[in-house]
This record gives sequence, structure tokens and C-alpha cells, in this order.
Amino acid sequence: MKGIILAGGKGTRLRPLTIITCKQLLPVYDKPMIYYPINTLVTSGIKDILIIIAPEYSGHFLNLLGSGKEFGARFSYAIQDEPRGLADAFIVGEDFIDNDNVTLILGDNIFEKDFSTEIGSFKSGGMVFAKKVSDPERFGVVEFDKKMKATKIVEKPKDPKSDYAVVGLYVYDKNVVKNAKNLKPSDRREIEITDLNNLYLKEDNLKVNIFDGIWEDAGDFDSLLRVSNYMAGKAARIKG
Ligand code: DAU
Repeated sequence: MKGIILAGGKGTRLRPLTIITCKQLLPVYDKPMIYYPINTLVTSGIKDILIIIAPEYSGHFLNLLGSGKEFGARFSYAIQDEPRGLADAFIVGEDFIDNDNVTLILGDNIFEKDFSTEIGSFKSGGMVFAKKVSDPERFGVVEFDKKMKATKIVEKPKDPKSDYAVVGLYVYDKNVVKNAKNLKPSDRREIEITDLNNLYLKEDNLKVNIFDGIWEDAGDFDSLLRVSNYMAGKAARIKG
């Protein structure tokens, strides 16, 4: 199992902070944001990690993260010239993925959960995680039938049919590269991970795990502050 951290994009929702650096290097309490997804992958047993970054601040990532030795991992880097969508990670990462399975984590998603059991038992197809939230319209939302079997995922629906948001950690087999290449850009001209997941769902090849751990998408001011406060509180509890 290989890992990809998607840490490009323009961070427009965090301007003016992201005029002088990129979102995934901003602090979450006492660490740069990207330390958290790195830690999630490493604690889930993934050591071979591709970090996809935008051209603008690519040198900063290399200075900060280097070879990955400090994290007990091996880092490779790739540039995504334009934010063409989350599913583009598998096209940019094609050579890195090669014939292996791959876990993608979004560079602004912060988890307190060990995914090693689910990732360790993954065999084929795709696997996503959904969490009950109070603001589903911010996310990809899972629709279920009466037996709680997932039927469809809708990206940022105005009128969500459930409270279950798809979180930013996705697991696929090697066919993901081919599937990503077949996606058509959406109205916002991105190739959407939600379209990719619906493709797997249609083939009855997507496992949707419900999970209840700590998760935050730190992509706007409120969530960034919330997760920083959470981490500060946790550090204070540890110090006693
Ligand atoms: O956080 C979970 C949500 O992430 C899911 O529920 C949604 O289905 C999924 O579309 C995604 O929604 P976001 O609106 O949060 O995606 P965003 O555009 O903020 O991109 C997530 C991260 O990926 C962010 O750190 C920037 C980076 N990115 C984004 C794009 C579009 C790239 O590196 N390249 C890109 O082309």
C-alpha cells in the first residue's frame, strides 16, 4: 500500500493567509498542518508517500519535510501545475502508484484515528469513510437505501439527503489510475473524487465505512481555529 498526500490547490478560502504561503504549511496549534496527514499515514502503516504540491511554494515543502527520514517514512514529491481536481492525484501519481494499492489523504484533513486495520485488510475496489456531521452541505454526502447500503454520493448538495460526509481519506486498487483518466471535468472544471467514487459504487465495488473518530477539514477559518484549539487542549491535558 502506497500513500499520496494531496497538498496543492490555491487555498482561496484562507486568503489573505495563503497569499504568502500555502494552506498545508499553516500552523495547526504547534505544527504545520501537513504533519497531521503525514502522521495519519505513517501510523496506519504506510511509509512510501508521494506529496503532491503546487509549484508556488514547492521549495518550502522540501525544506520542511526533506526525505521523510525524520518521520520514519520515504517521501517523493510531484508538482500539480493547476488544481485540476482531487482525482487528478492519481494521474499525477501514476508512475509512483505503479501496480500497487494506494491511499489518498487530503493535506488539510486532520484525523485522530488509526486506519491500520481497515487499510491492512483492504483487497480491491475502493474504500471510503463517512462521518455524521452537522454541516453536510460542505462535503461529499452519502445517500443510503432503507438497509443503510450506500447508493450514491453527492458533492456539496444544497439539500443533503443524509448527515454522512465523506472524509478526505480514500483507498483504491491500482485500477484507480485508469478510472481517473476516464472522468469528465465537472461544472467547476475539476475531475471530482465524488464522480470516481460513484463509478466504484455503480459497480458495487466501493466499501463505505461509517466512522466516529475525530475529523476536521481545516480548509476555512472556523475549522482551522477549531482544530487548533482542540490540539492545544489535548497538549494541555497531556502536560497535566
Ligand atoms: O474534506 C473532505 C471533502 O474534501 C470531501 O467530503 C469532498 O467530497 C471533497 O470534494 C473535498 O472537498 P473540499 O471542498 O474540501 O476540497 P478542496 O477543493 O478544499 O481540496 C481538498 C484539498 O486538496 C486541499 O488541501 C487542496 C487540495 N487540492 C485540491 C484540488 C481541487 C489539490 O492539491 N489539488 C486540486 O486540484
